Amino acid sequence: MTMPETSAPTADTAGESVGAEVLRPHAEDAFAGELAALAAADDRPRPARWRLSPWAVATYLLGGTLPDGTVITPKYVGPRRIIEVAVTTLATDRALLLLGVPGTAKTWVSEHLAAAVSGDSTLLVQGTAGTPEEAIRYGWNYAQLLAHGPSRDALVSSPVMRAMAEGMTARIEELTRIPADVQDSLITILSEKTLPVPELGQEIQAVRGFNVIATANDRDRGINDLSSALRRRFNTVVLPLPATAEAEVDIVSRRVDQIGRSLDLPGGLEGIAEIRRVVTVFRELRDGVTADGRTKIKSPSGTLSTAEAISVVTNGLALAAHFGDGVLRPGDVASGILGAVVRDPAADRVIWQEYVETVVRERDGWKDFYRACREVGA
Ligand SMILES: Nc1ncnc2c1ncn2[C@@H]1O[C@H](COP(=O)(O)OP(=O)(O)OP(=O)(O)O)[C@@H](O)[C@H]1O
Ligand SMILES: [Mg+2]
Repeated sequence: MTMPETSAPTADTAGESVGAEVLRPHAEDAFAGELAALAAADDRPRPARWRLSPWAVATYLLGGTLPDGTVITPKYVGPRRIIEVAVTTLATDRALLLLGVPGTAKTWVSEHLAAAVSGDSTLLVQGTAGTPEEAIRYGWNYAQLLAHGPSRDALVSSPVMRAMAEGMTARIEELTRIPADVQDSLITILSEKTLPVPELGQEIQAVRGFNVIATANDRDRGINDLSSALRRRFNTVVLPLPATAEAEVDIVSRRVDQIGRSLDLPGGLEGIAEIRRVVTVFRELRDGVTADGRTKIKSPSGTLSTAEAISVVTNGLALAAHFGDGVLRPGDVASGILGAVVRDPAADRVIWQEYVETVVRERDGWKDFYRACREVGA
């Protein structure tokens, strides 16, 4: 797997230097400036082959200001301890499992951890029901194999194997979607830190610095639950939903701002009221009760995660930019919310209509939004 050569990012000050043509640069490229500033300021001990000390990795994720004034933007907004435990785990011989409901930033945190620890977030296995053992161990280049027989040249390393050989962080996405027998190929890797290649009578021994970050979705539990043997090789860190509406508004506005800039959408804080509204609607429907705790409501079947709130607001901003006056208004988010809430056309629509008529209609200052909801068909 070769990565396309991207032009070296122009390392501007506060991270986020974006290679000209790449739609979504890897974390280590997008935040090259921040990572370099952290490395320069970091005088704490670094575990073998780590680019940064655990303290600097945590600062990269949680944000902060360096002695020279460089501002590190927070990537993860949430309890500091969670990130500290995750980073510490990576410095031990246990692998890290990030667990949580959809949209709680598992993939996001995994990418940024790998970028900060190893300077490379691309050693990635995407878990699916069809993930073969070769994706975790190794495969063969059959032309080479037939021409010259089994040799190191004919071997095609998996991302995990490369991470072992180079002392890097490998990432496995959606671990529980991978069939159980394929998951089991990780057991030897994680406990013996070796990958035997019987065809060559050799083994690949993991170099210090190697570790694995896996992510798994709470909702997938039961599809291919982790065997207890494998689970024991992982420290599990659960990423929670944002504790308060304010925290969630903060996450959504930060991410929307970043994504908006990469799409050349106008930024600005005028839309903050609308963001607050989207978050309120999502939280109330998710929790099954209004924010004041007075009215019980039914929850729809969709997950209504922070990630979905981010995309509703981003789409709304795009609507406002291309067809409105550039300011996010109720009409720009109403259809997005409807799309996120109504997954099951029958049951969810009834729940949504009830919410609109009993909660939205009665709420002070929500008249515009009520009208917008009615217009898109609630
Ligand atoms: N606490 C948080 N701090 C910062 N960003 C967050 C937080 N929660 C969610 N996000 C944002 O939500 C988006 C989606 O996150 P991500 O894709 O990592 O979720 P996930 O947990 O992997 O979901 P899934 O289970 O569907 O794979 C990201 O853009 C991320 O920035
Ligand atoms: Mg994910």
